[in-house]
Order: sequence, then structure tokens, then C-alpha cells
Amino acid sequence: MTSPKTDIRTIEIDALKKGMYVVSITSQSGKTSVAQSGRITQAEQVKLLKRKGVKVVSVDWSRSVFEDDSSQPKTTEINSASSKVKKLSGESEKLAAKKLFNEAKSLQTKFFRQLQQGEPIDIEPMERAAEGLIDSLENQSGAMLCLAKIRAKDKYLMEHSLNVGMLLAYFGRSLDMNKAVQKQLLMGGMLHDIGKINTPDEILHKPGKLTDDEFVIMREHVVHSHNILKAQEGISKIMLEIASNHHERLDGLGYPNKLKGEQLSSYTRMANIVDCYDALTADRVYKSGMPPTAAFRILLSGVGTQFDKVLIEKFIRCMGVYPVGTLVKLKSKKLGVVVERNELKPLQPIIKLVFNVATNTHTEVKLIDLSKYSHEEIEGAVSPRDYGISLDRFLAE
Ligand SMILES: [Fe+2]
Repeated sequence: MTSPKTDIRTIEIDALKKGMYVVSITSQSGKTSVAQSGRITQAEQVKLLKRKGVKVVSVDWSRSVFEDDSSQPKTTEINSASSKVKKLSGESEKLAAKKLFNEAKSLQTKFFRQLQQGEPIDIEPMERAAEGLIDSLENQSGAMLCLAKIRAKDKYLMEHSLNVGMLLAYFGRSLDMNKAVQKQLLMGGMLHDIGKINTPDEILHKPGKLTDDEFVIMREHVVHSHNILKAQEGISKIMLEIASNHHERLDGLGYPNKLKGEQLSSYTRMANIVDCYDALTADRVYKSGMPPTAAFRILLSGVGTQFDKVLIEKFIRCMGVYPVGTLVKLKSKKLGVVVERNELKPLQPIIKLVFNVATNTHTEVKLIDLSKYSHEEIEGAVSPRDYGISLDRFLAE
């Protein structure tokens, strides 16, 4: 394991100075690679890197030597949040931590509110499970420091990170994993994308499709996550594994190490699912998230290649799609009320047919087990009010 004292920082080329110990190139327009890591001893070395199109490099601060403090970069250091947090002491540190903690709390509330606005899923048990989870972070200074870096980079990144952490912990709980593991899942999920603090903003926030070159840089965030967390004290094996492998796939077509099958632990497999689920359902400035059930369908289409079949089914089951009492619209334009959940096939519950939208009339009330009617499929959940239907009547029957 790398020495815990390693302090990798991302430095823009214009801020690269004599004495800095360069370990790798983070962003460039050319194809230069650092053959050997080492200290910058002459200004010419920086000029040469610049000429070759190098834009951002990773510097090991702990191995850098500065003649005087004034040579240290002040404003152009990308992950300056870390030094800011480190330099704070006493009261101000407590205040900064409190602020961050409060923000995490309000993001947690926002997460559940958003879930509630989509198609009905059982959020109550999730809320209960999340109670105290975020609180447990208060004593995790290492994790909080990392979260502060994420926050400094990008608010959405912090939001996504927290969502993934909470969902992952909840998923672990539904699989009867113990409290200590749930906590590691929370923190592992929270920190899995920390490497993105090194990804240039124009790539991280690009609304359209990334070019091949940009995609290469984007994919590097996993390696950065691994390096940052490996050098951080208090990061467990589970947390490191989640961060390092969350873009690997079961079929070996993922990155960065093309791991496959048995090489992916169940924690990694869980993280793959949850990370993808949150990316699909989250609202971004340029796109609104898709409803949970649409996301589940996409996840299901990746079963066997990208995702673990058993875990996908367990995830969908633990999210509790279509709770009893939900009014659903079928592709055949009929409406039905869910009367019994299907534990094994959560998207195919038993419903009671009540209404035909095509003819705008009530239908003969009839029970249908959707797992046995291959020609009927749920399109989505709908509001009873939109159709002037009182569900009490049908549920009581
Ligand atoms: Fe990622």
C-alpha cells in the first residue's frame, strides 16, 4: 500500500513550478506520458510539457520541495479545497464541517423528495434506514475531508455521491449485511467518484456526447479515485474496491482493468447497479431523470453482460416498485390496481383491472397476474385523480 503520507494534487500546467514532483499527466491534447515520475528542476521542463499539449498534471505534494513558500500555487491549484480544509483549525474547522454536514442532510431530504415525486416506490423503509446514516459521518474526519473536496469541485457530484452512498447502504441492509458493512457501503458510495475532482470541468460538465479523447480523460477518474483513497487513512478494503471497480462489467468490457466475473466482488456488483440507477434517475440541469421503473428496465437489459442477475432482481425488489395500491397503466391502455407484489418479478405484480382508457369506461373488475400474461406489460404508474377513480372501492373489494 502507498504510504498514507502521499498527497497527490492536480495542478494546471501554468501553476507547475520548480520543485514539484510530477507523477502523471492528467489532461492533455497530445499523447505524452510521464516515463518516470520526478521533480521539476528547470523551468524548461514545464515549457516542454506545455509545448506537447499537457494541460494538467498530478503532483505528489509530499515529495515536492519548495525553496520558499511564495513559490507554492495559490489560486490555480484545482483541489485547493483539501488544503483549505487542512489549514482550518479549531472553531472554523468545526464550522466548515457543520456546514458540509447540514448540506449533506438537506441533500438527503431532497433525494427522498425526488423519489416520492416519481413513480411510487416504497421510500418509507429507506428513510428509516437512512436515519442515522449521515449522522454517523460526523465522526469520520477522513471521509468528510474527501466529501469536502467533492463539494468544492461540483455540487451535482456531491449529490450523486451521497445518493449512491445511501442507496448502496440501504441495498446492503436489505441483503442483511451488518451495520459495519452498511457504513462502509455508505462511505464507499459517497467517495467512489472522488477522482472526478481531477477531471477538467469542460469534460465533466459537457452536456453532449464526449469525443473519444474526452472519454479517455473521463475514464481516468476511476484511477484517480483509487489513488486518492489509497493514500487516505481510514479507507477500508470495501470502500477502495467500490471506488476502483465501479465501472468494471461482468463480461470484462468495463474499465480500467477489464476485470470480469468472479473478479468482481458482490460489493462492486452492487455499486455498479446503484451508480447506474442514480445516473439514470437523477435530475441534471440539462436533463430530467427518468422514472425508476424505466431505469429498472434499462438495468434489466444489462443482466448477464454488465450486471449480476440475482443482485439486479434483489435491488429492484428492495426498491419496492409498484407498492400495493398503486394504479398502473398497461401498454394496452387499461388501468389496474396493484393488489399483490411479485417478489421475484417486481415489474409484474398481480393487478385488478378497473378501467379502459381507450373507451373511457370502467371495465369488468378482473384479477390479472402479469407474470402469466406475456402480452400485458405495465407502461407506468398513474394518478387515480387524473382518471377520476377512487381506489378505496377496489382495494376494499
Ligand atoms: Fe464513476
